[in-house]
Amino acid sequence: MIRDAAEFRAAADDRREAGGTAALVPTMGALHEGHVSLIRRARAEHAWCAVSIFVNPLQFGPDEDLGRYPRDEPADLAVCERLGVDAVWAPTAQEMYPPGVLLPSPEPGPIGDVLEGASRPGHFRGVLKAVHRLFDACGPCTAYFGEKDAQQLFLVRRMVSEERLPVTVVGSPTVREPGGLACSSRNAQLSAKEREQAACLFLALTEAAELARGGERDAAVLVAAMAREIGATALAHLDYATVVADDTFEEIRAIDRPARALVAARFPSARLIDNLRLPSAKPATAGS
Ligand code: PAJ
Repeated sequence: MIRDAAEFRAAADDRREAGGTAALVPTMGALHEGHVSLIRRARAEHAWCAVSIFVNPLQFGPDEDLGRYPRDEPADLAVCERLGVDAVWAPTAQEMYPPGVLLPSPEPGPIGDVLEGASRPGHFRGVLKAVHRLFDACGPCTAYFGEKDAQQLFLVRRMVSEERLPVTVVGSPTVREPGGLACSSRNAQLSAKEREQAACLFLALTEAAELARGGERDAAVLVAAMAREIGATALAHLDYATVVADDTFEEIRAIDRPARALVAARFPSARLIDNLRLPSAKPATAGS
């Protein structure tokens, strides 16, 4: 495991000089099956695979769960070792954000202020600053991100293209528990009862997807169905339910292009988010 940024960069440079490509999987640790799927894919597609572990204080609001965020470095290192990860960069706060050094702080723009950005002011500014720093420390690479955090993935992609960073961003499908609950480090904060009821996020998204598959084109109908499902769950408090266009992340009224349904809900012990790409309508069969 590497703490030092220069040492991490040297390890990545060595591999590139030897002719191989580098993969990076940025994480905040407390590794679960979602992270594992990203790491496995990165490993399979590249000669050299690095995982970064850093609980980034800049992306947590003052009333959020930075202090309670799960941390277990020995367990994370064991997971990386088992998966054959070549380098784990787990910087200290000083290595990540060297005091006195003015690091770039990319602008998230208007999409950084809606949905997750509206509920968590400053969140995406913190995410982009961290991700930019990680990319800079690693150098040219392919970076793997989960569709679970679709708005984050969208903004990271945009940052890379706007700033012409030497990084290829790959988005990977959400990994779920058997009941549909998306794997998340925050699931560990839920009580048994909350965990049971947390399936309502996926149920809501599945209902929206079924409506879209059946030909419903009015996003408000899908939003109402999702809000009803989460509203009927005792321990869940709906934060938002919406439908966005996949290519712009803007909320849409008519589902007439590739679109994604998103939900966020607060439980007493954690706030959870999830999303699902909406299927296109099933063509009507003859006679129906
Ligand atoms: P973290 O929440 O640890 O997530 C690290 C990566 O794992 C992200 O790309 C996230 O989308 C992905 N991920 C999380 N749950 C997943 C699931 N169930 N299935 C598939 N992928 C999943 O996201 C962050 O950390 C931070 O914001 C970070 C990018 C590291 C910047 O600090």
